[in-house]
Amino acid sequence: MLEKIQQLLAEVETLQAHSAEELEALRIKYLSKKGSISALMNDFRSVPAEQKKEVGIKINELKTRAFDKINALRAEFAQTDSADDDIDITRTAYPTPLGTRHPLTIVKNEIVDIFSRLGFSLAEGPEVEDDWHVFGSMNFADDHPARDMQDTFFIEARPDVILRTHTSSVQSRVMEKTQPPIRIICPGRVYRNEAISARAHCFFHQVEGLYVDKEVSFTDLKQVLLLFAREMFGEGTQIRLRPSYFPFTEPSAEMDISCNICGGTGCAFCKHTGWVEILGCGMVDPAVLQLNGIDPTKYKGYAFGMGVERIANLKYQVKDLRMFSENDMRFLREFEAAN
Ligand code: DAH
Repeated sequence: MLEKIQQLLAEVETLQAHSAEELEALRIKYLSKKGSISALMNDFRSVPAEQKKEVGIKINELKTRAFDKINALRAEFAQTDSADDDIDITRTAYPTPLGTRHPLTIVKNEIVDIFSRLGFSLAEGPEVEDDWHVFGSMNFADDHPARDMQDTFFIEARPDVILRTHTSSVQSRVMEKTQPPIRIICPGRVYRNEAISARAHCFFHQVEGLYVDKEVSFTDLKQVLLLFAREMFGEGTQIRLRPSYFPFTEPSAEMDISCNICGGTGCAFCKHTGWVEILGCGMVDPAVLQLNGIDPTKYKGYAFGMGVERIANLKYQVKDLRMFSENDMRFLREFEAAN
């Protein structure tokens, strides 16, 4: 009996399995009710009493060893098995989700692109500005209503420091350092002290354009804006200029484009007029040139400014301005295709 146990112990140590079936066969051979260890247990009854202790210990040892060995084989097996399952080298790579550009960035880039093709170069200025660059240098009279607390964010400790209310301040930043010819396009964020609603926000985005040179006429302005409107909204787009007033331009105008939603026939968006306003523009007031160190007897210029949100609304019909700053992924993902 002891010999038999010894032999089985040696056998168990050398066990190997190459498949789940082989492993199961081993389990049956050694550990099942009909297996060789069970058979030994049955024979145990006939072992003489004085040997029972020694034989019992040996049988238990065999049982434990066989159990451990088969479990170890199973674990080894499971490991290689799962490794095989996990790595499928023929599978395509997991896609890395890419972010999307913000709709306002898409529209701003498009505006800047169109004007760079027309020879305008990019200029930027600070969002935290002083009164001079936002108002004074732009020919705002001291008592102009736009300086009112209603519109402007002031910084308490420094009454001359404000958040710029328009990108026209960049005109001044460039003119004070550069003599003509100047041909710049200035995108940026602006701030106004407004209650946030679907139609107004305390910050929004503008793109400013400025051209100063020897022979600049209103016709040049009109032609450049027509080209812009057609590039941005399509070949068939019409423009019209209505007289307006800005302190920094004379004459001043507001430009409408034929409504790109109804094609000019009239709809709710254009309030059934067929036209929608998209920007302000005009010939740079000679006083502005003077205030910024440019000789108005030698040079003339035109300028324009537009709201990026406004253009984006027209292109994508976003009804609520707040969508642009809420970072709702469902909204932002809609612009994946436009990237
Ligand atoms: N700064 C104006 C605004 O915020 C927009 C504007 C109008 C800019 C006419 C210009 C311009 O350069 O010529 O409403």
